[in-house]
Amino acid sequence: MADPTPVSAGSPDEARQPDRLTIPPNYALRRRYKLGAIIARGGMSTVYRATDTLRVRARAAECDVAVKLVDLIGPTRPDAIELIHREARRMRELAHPNIVRVFDSDVDGPYHFIVMELLEGQTLAQRLRRESIVGTDIPGIIAPVADALDCAHAQGIVHGDLKPGNIFLTTKREVKLLDFGLAFAARAVTGDDDDPTIVYLARVGGLTPSFAAYEMLAGDPPSAASDVFALAVIAYILHAGRHPFDRRSALEAKALGLQPARPVHLDRRAWRVMSAALSFSPAERPQRAGEFAEAFRPSRWWQRLR
Ligand SMILES: Nc1ncnc2c1ncn2[C@@H]1O[C@H](COP(=O)(O)OP(=O)(O)O)[C@@H](O)[C@H]1O
Ligand SMILES: [Mg+2]
Repeated sequence: MADPTPVSAGSPDEARQPDRLTIPPNYALRRRYKLGAIIARGGMSTVYRATDTLRVRARAAECDVAVKLVDLIGPTRPDAIELIHREARRMRELAHPNIVRVFDSDVDGPYHFIVMELLEGQTLAQRLRRESIVGTDIPGIIAPVADALDCAHAQGIVHGDLKPGNIFLTTKREVKLLDFGLAFAARAVTGDDDDPTIVYLARVGGLTPSFAAYEMLAGDPPSAASDVFALAVIAYILHAGRHPFDRRSALEAKALGLQPARPVHLDRRAWRVMSAALSFSPAERPQRAGEFAEAFRPSRWWQRLR
């Protein structure tokens, strides 16, 4: 899926979206969540700022929320609806400081939506477009994402679409993993052999090829190691300022026999772990995201001697 385009409410862009479900401005979903400005528009859905009017009436804290609403129309709409409710179901099971909190999911007439905590800040993709952050606090981004992944994996959930557009950097300097829309039940853990996500995925055309692991592109079910591959691609971009395979997919990279070059300032210990994590074979990668992230913590002098 392409990175969503951030748009401002009332932009001329909105008028040019005939293929989208329309929604009246300031509509209150289930007479509770009053929609405000659009934050971003993705392939299947639009994310809005919204106010939880029930919480306002109760004078509770955190009345501002984010609402992700399926507004795709056409033959793949039922798949998109199924995916968003699956996302909510899985996310409600995941309570972690580095995973966006999902409060609710519901339907109001044609509007299927999930309600989340409202994050202020920008995605890593937006940050990378605005400035070079090569070499700056990389463990500060990689370690919390790895923690979030390990938590999801321990509960049998594979993210499946890890990329800079799904990592949010808040103004409070927190790192939050977003968008479990394409998350899979990990077979090894749950024994869930007929996860239909793969079917929806094929139909709605998900996956971001330059971050997807080889086995996913080859049609195999993803595992925790597939998320480790995507994390390694992100870590490589942060270290080297470019994609390990010049933005080519793992499938093309393997066919062309491409080998990533060591980023200049990366020590040998970290490079060993990084190149293993970028392997086309899942068995050769570190099996836990935390194990991968460990290699990028600032090393102590005696480790550097090894
Ligand atoms: N809880 C949130 N708070 C603030 N912005 C969000 C939130 N969730 C998503 N966004 C913004 O909306 C974009 C799209 O959301 P995402 O869940 O990644 O949907 P998609 O499936 O369309 O990629 C994100 O890249 C981010 O900019
Ligand atoms: Mg996304």
